[in-house]
Amino acid sequence: MELFTSLLWLKETDSTQNRLKDWNLSYGSVVVADRQTAGRGRLGRRWVSQEGGLYFSFLLNPKGIKNLIQLPLVLGLSLSESLENLGIRTQIKWVNDVYINRKKVAGILCELSGEKLIVGIGVNVNQREIPEELKDRATSLFIETGKEFDRKEILLNFFRYAERNLRIFKEKGFTPFKKNIEEKLLYAGEEVRIIGSEEVRGKLVGLSERGGALLLTEEGLKEFISGELSLRPL
Ligand code: ATP
Ligand code: BTN
Repeated sequence: MELFTSLLWLKETDSTQNRLKDWNLSYGSVVVADRQTAGRGRLGRRWVSQEGGLYFSFLLNPKGIKNLIQLPLVLGLSLSESLENLGIRTQIKWVNDVYINRKKVAGILCELSGEKLIVGIGVNVNQREIPEELKDRATSLFIETGKEFDRKEILLNFFRYAERNLRIFKEKGFTPFKKNIEEKLLYAGEEVRIIGSEEVRGKLVGLSERGGALLLTEEGLKEFISGELSLRPL
């Protein structure tokens, strides 16, 4: 592999994102942890990081990436394709999550810190149970398939797909991915709401060329470009 160059596997850390932020590691470095004591999600939310899951971050050079809005979608597709290769069918929830059977199984976080683009991915893999407060929204690969998975295999398989997709993304942009993501898009054709400073309701009809969510609302077709937005079913 060319893009992902070194791997550090820790027993425990606060957040693998912080290891890449604080430590002076080169582009392509990957940090994995068996547990995180302060795992975080988008918008400062908490990411529950119990034993059994796969929690990792990697460092990219932001110079090569033109559009940071599209990156979580391209990486979500990479994760979904790599899981499909292991026989697990997933869907992509705009803009940064991977779902199985309408429950969240993985989340992607892209953080920019100076010259560092730090991407973090959490996948619920072998957890037998999901904490009570997340039970109705989250699941694990074990809960959905009844099988245990080798986290190393999931990680390396993801890197194979991500490396290929990131090369294409840098050369050709988002267009080569749009259709493949739309085919896996959770809530496509359903009534949803987009929550930001205000709430907008409509039918999710697909993605725009920019990677925005396209909603057919009472006032016509509207594009939503992520940032602080959340997509929910009605
Ligand atoms: P959206 O991305 O649309 O805003 P979201 O609720 O998925 O919606 P994120 O910020 O993407 O929000 O993800 C963080 C959320 O993920 C947390 O608020 C929590 O609800 C959920 N979460 C936390 N830990 C886990 C986990 N291990 N597995 C699945 N979901 C989790
Ligand atoms: C989200 O759904 O909002 C994104 C969740 C990202 C979680 C991963 S786990 C590895 C890395 N370290 C963190 O603290 N967060 C990311």
